[in-house]
Amino acid sequence: MFKRIRSYCLFGIKAVPVSVEVDSSQGLPGFTLVGLPDNAVRESRERVVSAIRSIGKVVTGFRTTVNLSPADLRKEGSALDLPLAIGLLVSTGEIEVPKLERYVLVGELSLDGLLKPVRGVLSIAMSLPKDGSILVVPRANAREASLVEGLNFICAESLKECVDILVSGGDSGIRIATGLCRDMQSELGDVPDFENVVGMEGVKRALEIAAAGAHNFLLVGSPGAGKTLCARCLPGILPEMTEQEVLETTRIHSCARRAGDSGDFNPVTVRPFRTPHHSASMVSLVGGGSRLAPGEASLAHNGVLFLDELPEFNRSVLEALREPMEEGSISVSRASGTVVWPARFMMGAAMNPCPCGFAMDPKRACTCLPDARKRYREKISGPLLDRIDIQVSVPPVDTKMLSGNPRGESSSKIRARVCRARDVQRARFEGTPFKSNAEMTSEKAYRFAAMSRETERFAIAAADKMNLSARGYYRLLKVSRTIADLRGCGNVEVEDLSEALRYRAFC
Ligand SMILES: Nc1ncnc2c1ncn2[C@@H]1O[C@H](COP(=O)(O)OP(=O)(O)OP(=O)(O)O)[C@@H](O)[C@H]1O
Ligand SMILES: [Mg+2]
Ligand SMILES: [Zn+2]
Repeated sequence: MFKRIRSYCLFGIKAVPVSVEVDSSQGLPGFTLVGLPDNAVRESRERVVSAIRSIGKVVTGFRTTVNLSPADLRKEGSALDLPLAIGLLVSTGEIEVPKLERYVLVGELSLDGLLKPVRGVLSIAMSLPKDGSILVVPRANAREASLVEGLNFICAESLKECVDILVSGGDSGIRIATGLCRDMQSELGDVPDFENVVGMEGVKRALEIAAAGAHNFLLVGSPGAGKTLCARCLPGILPEMTEQEVLETTRIHSCARRAGDSGDFNPVTVRPFRTPHHSASMVSLVGGGSRLAPGEASLAHNGVLFLDELPEFNRSVLEALREPMEEGSISVSRASGTVVWPARFMMGAAMNPCPCGFAMDPKRACTCLPDARKRYREKISGPLLDRIDIQVSVPPVDTKMLSGNPRGESSSKIRARVCRARDVQRARFEGTPFKSNAEMTSEKAYRFAAMSRETERFAIAAADKMNLSARGYYRLLKVSRTIADLRGCGNVEVEDLSEALRYRAFC
């Protein structure tokens, strides 16, 4: 009998509908699989036949042909196990499923018939047509499917449970997705609090501005000055994610899951703070590779990509970040098409001013030769530095201050101010694709700065004196806009510009 089962495959972040066509007939027993399967799909027959045997059914002894269509799309991974198993069961007449055409199935099978989670379920759930289609997923993917409000889905622990539900007509197992419940909001993990950071008021202020406007930042200072510590405190002052942002980010993280990642997949409800090591390769940072997987830059979408020890990163790897920093996305081209990964992140970085680390230290002398210092600085290209709105030097704290352990302002207080400034921005960008001051276009940066003639003259003169590029000038306006938002002021004034100019310490 010929049967067609609906399923999906991933192409980057996109979910593409796939039909698994199974034709089983009497004749010389055999099994043919066509339609560009990768190795995982090719091997699925062994898993599927053994899983089917575990529920007491037999589908061997037939002449079976399986076609995965569309034939020109490369099918990868193990998510086609479940549709293949159901396809074999119905086409050999072992089971009968009423209204088979309304189900869309994905899931990996283990030899004993258990359903294992697959990646990209959120993408699949989002692209499912709203025509009464029902998505069938492994239990561990249920939370993810339930994020798409109104979606009809069924989740099952094993092939047996899935078969029982489908044979009985499905209705007993159908659930309707409720969307993101507030109780899913998870807590920040072990993020240090700014109240335990002694002194460093200037750095805290700079990070508050960065968080308020989603600006890129760079911290430069002596070893042990507290750069890494301050950056690690940052997640504690970032605003809560909106529902839309949770969906966007979870979708990317879901596609990035690796085979074998077990356990329930929870939505990403806390802004990502990704800290790739400086030995990271191009593929791991911007994505691609044979799996067309997202890189750290995409995993940091709606959050922070923090590059500690910036000059130690491979220069070409850093240059590859210029595209997403400007566009908010990364495109990876393949013969089969182009995959576009969203990658709108705040880039943070930390570095020493020179190889020995003490070039800016008030107490210790730098022992580097001028040439070595120059080479070290040159590891960071001008265009990259130009994209960093907030550049601050981190002076070492006076050791005397550490003894009394005076408490600073807590992260939650700073966060409240950041959130207020974000509310102002949300109102400003209503109806536009922008979410923060850092994202706006140059023309908008000028318009929303709403400077008086005099203030503008000051801005131009200052930019001229500091040899800012055109991009640098508009970035200056954006940071000033954020500073004015934190003050709760509609117009950018000279004092905002003067502060913003101080954050252009290195270019
Ligand atoms: N202002 C501070 N208040 C409290 N503790 C601090 C402060 N500055 C530094 N420390 C302590 O010093 C440790 C080292 O700081 P951190 O790792 O942030 O230095 P760094 O500037 O990143 O140095 P490097 O350039 O070597 O990476 C921190 O873990 C923290 O315990
Ligand atoms: Mg450090
Ligand atoms: Zn030095």
